[in-house]
Amino acid sequence: MKLFILVALFGLGLAQHNPHIRHGRTSIVHLFEWRWADIAAECERFLGPNGFGGVQISPPNEHIILDSPWRPWWQRYQPISYNLCSRSGSEDELRDMITRCNNVGVNIYVDAVINHMCGNTGGEGTHSSCGSWFSASRKDFPSVPYSHWDFNDNKCKTSSGDIENYADAYQVRDCRLVGLLDLALEKDYVRGKVADFMNKLIDMGVAGFRVDACKHMWPGDLEAVSGRLKNLSTRWFPNGSRPFIYQEVIDLGNEPISSSQYFHLGRVTEFKYGAKLGTVFRKWHGEKLCYTRNWGEGWGFMPDGNALVFIDNHDNQRGHGAGGASIVTFWDSRLHKMAVGFMLAHPYGVTRVMSSFRWNRQVVNGKDQNDWIGPPSHSDGSTKSVPINPDQTCGDGWVCEHRWRQIKNMVIFRNVVNGQPHSNWWDNQSNQVAFGRGNRGFIVFNNDDWDLDVTLNTGMPGGTYCDVISGQKEGGRCTGKQIQVGGDGHAHFRISNTEEDPFVAIHAESKL
Ligand SMILES: *[C@@H]1O[C@H](CO)[C@@H](O)[C@H](O)[C@H]1NC(C)=O
Ligand SMILES: *[C@@H]1O[C@H](CO)[C@@H](O)[C@H](O)[C@H]1NC(C)=O
Ligand SMILES: *[C@@H]1O[C@H](CO)[C@@H](O)[C@H](O)[C@H]1NC(C)=O
Repeated sequence: MKLFILVALFGLGLAQHNPHIRHGRTSIVHLFEWRWADIAAECERFLGPNGFGGVQISPPNEHIILDSPWRPWWQRYQPISYNLCSRSGSEDELRDMITRCNNVGVNIYVDAVINHMCGNTGGEGTHSSCGSWFSASRKDFPSVPYSHWDFNDNKCKTSSGDIENYADAYQVRDCRLVGLLDLALEKDYVRGKVADFMNKLIDMGVAGFRVDACKHMWPGDLEAVSGRLKNLSTRWFPNGSRPFIYQEVIDLGNEPISSSQYFHLGRVTEFKYGAKLGTVFRKWHGEKLCYTRNWGEGWGFMPDGNALVFIDNHDNQRGHGAGGASIVTFWDSRLHKMAVGFMLAHPYGVTRVMSSFRWNRQVVNGKDQNDWIGPPSHSDGSTKSVPINPDQTCGDGWVCEHRWRQIKNMVIFRNVVNGQPHSNWWDNQSNQVAFGRGNRGFIVFNNDDWDLDVTLNTGMPGGTYCDVISGQKEGGRCTGKQIQVGGDGHAHFRISNTEEDPFVAIHAESKL
């Protein structure tokens, strides 16, 4: 009997590792702070047609509205209730977006903030995105409702009530993260409210959740909540599909809380991935691209089946969270395209691409004074929509990395090579490397300070292929470089170190 229960729980957990991405697609894009109406349009006009598998959306529930600093991005991480109205739009707009994205085969993953409510200094009143009244000082959130009984203060043993020492796992789970009112997830009542919120979204058609701040919740409490989650809507997903769960756990080592404590519940964000790959592409600390021959578990990352990987995220692209200065973001666009290209070509993990907004960055002594700035907005604080320029880039401060040709084409590359092994590795013992994915794709990087000029075995069938970095296949011709693969699978590559994008990628569907 015991064994049976164990097997059943294990099976349940493993099921939550599957992103249920449809039509052979493989990647998720985080449309950070986008409005629901814009995401719906983006699914139909761009993401569906270009093979994106899913969107991570910003938290959809009611959040605090902050004046100082003015409307920061982090107000979305300070819940007031589980009403579904936020800076991104209303419940109707959310529902419309989920439906329209699902209808073009693009999944929606919700950023779920369930560890806490707003900050303890959040005041009292109706300064919230749906206008619900709350009192942070009395820990009263009547529109859930939560009262002071539903918070962890009696469990926390620090004098400030905040986490003071990350070496103490009890503090990290039971005390307030930077003052955020810490929900008592050990209570059946709180678990029920959280599960109701998530189940409502499942019924609306979402495919899963990025769960915020999991390190600050006990795995047992998360297990109790996830055990109450419904299966995905059979309107779009196979009967018996569990929601995809990926947990934000920042684990760079050296702390008592580790990612592995969460593996049975779903996937986990692998923060070492972007931190290390940034170091490699920046050539810091003696790192070289040739050392990535055993990239993945060989670098001490978590098991492939547990990993959700990314180059940067909404926190560490502005110096929050983990990874520090090595993280490569759109501000370092040349390195960013290479690092994202590497990630999308490599088989390890479920991949997430970042899509950002620009802000007025002001780094003083390594700290960005403007790390708080929220999305492009009108003077009344409402978020601007995302205008699409004639050249398909975005305007009004939206960066849209996912629309950059090099990144969009590598998302397609990953779909084309899905399931193929890492193969035909080559390196020059420095920063020039190449690898293939079976006979479906091949990629070559030159991150050295001199030219690459070499003939390599691509493992691909002979023919003429369009490089999808310098251009792509369009109307039966290549808009960028053309690569000739001989009958023996060999091809000649020449990549100058001064090119805007010193890498080349070809795949089965870029063949003329
Ligand atoms: C889905 O599976 C359940 C059992 O897990 C079954 O009772 C139900 O009839 C199935 N629904 C459909 C639509 O096949
Ligand atoms: C959900 O799906 C699982 C299989 O993944 C099945 O065992 C379970 O009965 C389903 N639950 C419901 C409520 O249908
Ligand atoms: C790297 O490769 C190039 C040829 O592509 C070669 O000329 C160069 O010497 C190599 N560097 C090292 C350190 O092996």
